[in-house]
Amino acid sequence: MIDQQTQINLPRRYADQASVSTIREVFDYIRRFRNHIFVLKIEDILLDDPLFPSLMKDLIRLHEAGIKIIIIPGTRATIERNLKQAGLKTTLVKGVRITPPEILPHVKLAAMEVAENIISHLAAGKLNGIMGNWIKARSLGVRDGVDFQCSGEVEKIRSDIILRLLDQAFIPLIHPIGLNALGASYNLNSTQVACSLCMDIEVSKLFFIGEHEGIRSKGLIIPEGAQLQTNGYFSNLDRNHARALLEKNSQLLSHQEKEYLENAIKVTSKTNKVKRVHIISGKREGSLLKEVFSSIGGGTMIYANRHAHIRRATYDDLPELMQLLDGYVKEGNLVMRTEEDISEAIDNYYIYEVDKAVYGCGALFDLDDNSGEIGAIAVNPSYKSRGVGQGLVEYLIRLGRTKGFARLFLLTTRTSDWFYGFGFTHATPMDLPEKRKETYNQHRNSRVLMLLL
Ligand SMILES: CC(C)(COP(=O)(O)OP(=O)(O)OC[C@H]1O[C@@H](n2cnc3c(N)ncnc32)[C@H](O)[C@@H]1OP(=O)(O)O)[C@@H](O)C(=O)NCCC(=O)NCCS
Repeated sequence: MIDQQTQINLPRRYADQASVSTIREVFDYIRRFRNHIFVLKIEDILLDDPLFPSLMKDLIRLHEAGIKIIIIPGTRATIERNLKQAGLKTTLVKGVRITPPEILPHVKLAAMEVAENIISHLAAGKLNGIMGNWIKARSLGVRDGVDFQCSGEVEKIRSDIILRLLDQAFIPLIHPIGLNALGASYNLNSTQVACSLCMDIEVSKLFFIGEHEGIRSKGLIIPEGAQLQTNGYFSNLDRNHARALLEKNSQLLSHQEKEYLENAIKVTSKTNKVKRVHIISGKREGSLLKEVFSSIGGGTMIYANRHAHIRRATYDDLPELMQLLDGYVKEGNLVMRTEEDISEAIDNYYIYEVDKAVYGCGALFDLDDNSGEIGAIAVNPSYKSRGVGQGLVEYLIRLGRTKGFARLFLLTTRTSDWFYGFGFTHATPMDLPEKRKETYNQHRNSRVLMLLL
């Protein structure tokens, strides 16, 4: 995406080009996400924010673009405000509220208040929000000697009803109140409600929309390899980094940060279906649209595993592969390969793909002498510095080990420093296996790097 500053400084011809590519990018995303389900957990603290109507309008735009939306509102701020007004207090144990029976009516009232507020915003955009009691819940009971009284947890969600409502273009709104088999109500944690739903149905994206830009990195112990934004937040974390972050910072993270991270890890596990969890700020204009429709979202994205994005290339990928590599061939970073070259060796190529967009590519070739060669590493300029290149190289090194290679070679003109970071060391053309020596291009004079496996 082009920021405003850049737009202002660019000559009109380039600014026009930039906006055309932005429009194309948006259309691509709309096509990719049509009929996909997004679950949005929205913190109620945002309800009084001047930008809340704008956030709701953006949500309506997503719906109009054919994305199916489910909203799970948080109710904590409203409950606290209502209890304060009534002169009542409750206790939180590890972030979980103990709900005595006399507090429950206030909790239910707060849930209704929040839901009605959101539904009225949807109605203003001519959309039908609908809420219902679709959660069967059970008591949290007594844990470590603490009786949580009317606080409960999700037992089952009637996702069949929710899916039918989505098909009829409703926006289901699930407030965090559940009923047990006898009709008694329980106060639930809305983040857990969102995650239980995500584990039940096919959800493309789960959003936690709150006050903060994502998971902050400032003041925390950073897991090695995690990607940071310049504003002091993580731009993306794979599950392993998210888990390491939790483990290293259990005393430093807030309850909400821990809750987001723990639940994001749970829903992106192998057995679960959510590919990506986005933690974004509802206090920043356009944050939701930017996160969905541009290559550079503002918040923290948590996803299953970098390697889960990598797959073998097929002939259908040839046009995109050519386009991706060509740009860097022209700049002199990569050696020229024809479509026939790639086509003949297509099984050696790998694609890093997210939401059907090609973020990058790489290849691993078999050489003689129990050796392999990594090549054609290229990352789409829109997705640079997000760990895509690192993910590809790590994947290919691991693949080389699986294939039983003793060493990997790599020829590069400008990127040797980067590859040293993966353990490659300086070698010479004379170290290459015999046949590869013959095809070494003296004129190009690439540096030869080697990694012993
Ligand atoms: C090199 C390349 C693959 C890195 O991909 P990427 O997804 O942006 O890389 P990652 O996000 O994993 O790592 C980013 C870090 O790599 C380092 N890096 C990138 N290019 C580098 C280079 N030429 N030399 C040294 N370090 C470099 C930087 O430290 C960068 O961090 P920064 O964004 O904070 O500056 C990508 O820039 C690319 O496609 N380059 C053109 C093609 C190319 O040169 N391929 C290798 C030839 S074999």
